[in-house]
Amino acid sequence: MLASIKEMVEDAKKTNKIVPGFNVFGYEDAKAIIEVAEELNAPVILMSNTDAVKYMDLKVSGALFKALGEMAKVPVAIHLDHGKSFELVKDAIAAGYTSVMYDGSQLPFEENVKNTKEIVDYAHAKGISVEAEIGAVGYNDPSIEYKPVYTNPEEAKAFAEETGVDALAVAVGTLHRMTTQSAVLQYDLLKEIEEITDVPLVIHGSTGLPNKDLLMLKDYSIGKMNIGTALRMTFGKTMREYMNENPDVFDRLKVFVPAMEETKKVILDKYKRLGW
Ligand code: G3H
Ligand code: ZN
Repeated sequence: MLASIKEMVEDAKKTNKIVPGFNVFGYEDAKAIIEVAEELNAPVILMSNTDAVKYMDLKVSGALFKALGEMAKVPVAIHLDHGKSFELVKDAIAAGYTSVMYDGSQLPFEENVKNTKEIVDYAHAKGISVEAEIGAVGYNDPSIEYKPVYTNPEEAKAFAEETGVDALAVAVGTLHRMTTQSAVLQYDLLKEIEEITDVPLVIHGSTGLPNKDLLMLKDYSIGKMNIGTALRMTFGKTMREYMNENPDVFDRLKVFVPAMEETKKVILDKYKRLGW
């Protein structure tokens, strides 16, 4: 069934679980994710990031993920990840996305508040949840121009209160697109933020988190954890190995099967560590 992230992240926060938000790029990874969520009877968030939106029109991904979500036996949220403009957010909502992230993390505080508030008003009127970012989670990719900044707890509190967001992404030591689990999380900073805010927090760049952190973070006020690269690495690596081992196979339906199976193992592992 289709759902929005608001209830999911609030429930997760109360029950010491974290809902994973997985970056999806098409049918295969979305199907693999939903199958694991159904096995665990857990909610799930399918997220389209900027690359995915460039690759596949939002109308197409919205229709595809909406159909998969409606057929699923568990709550499925369809989420725009790192939306950088009001226009994109509107397009995602029109295409059937049930929640959106507005990312004003590179803007001055006041401008981020103003834009986020406008989006919250627009989205909430339509029953759509909103995630936004305060501070800025950087990228482990020098080709991306981006200024990372740790979240300031006082700013996080003011931002959450002034905007009314349903979930708040914070920068506490992770980096997007890490290919090893070696991020160093700033627990003192996270603790300070959670002590003065009420909103469920979101950790981005979670591929880079060591397993011990994944296990510990459910005891904090985190409602959602974004995971992308870990799945992409497994999907791509498995396809490459399968094709090298089976040079005569050209049928994509055959090539995708082992990639989906291996990716499901990673999805299951992440869910388990997040308390499911
Ligand atoms: O918004 C998406 C996530 O933050 C994914 O980050 O690809 O480093 O796991 P990751
Ligand atoms: Zn992110």
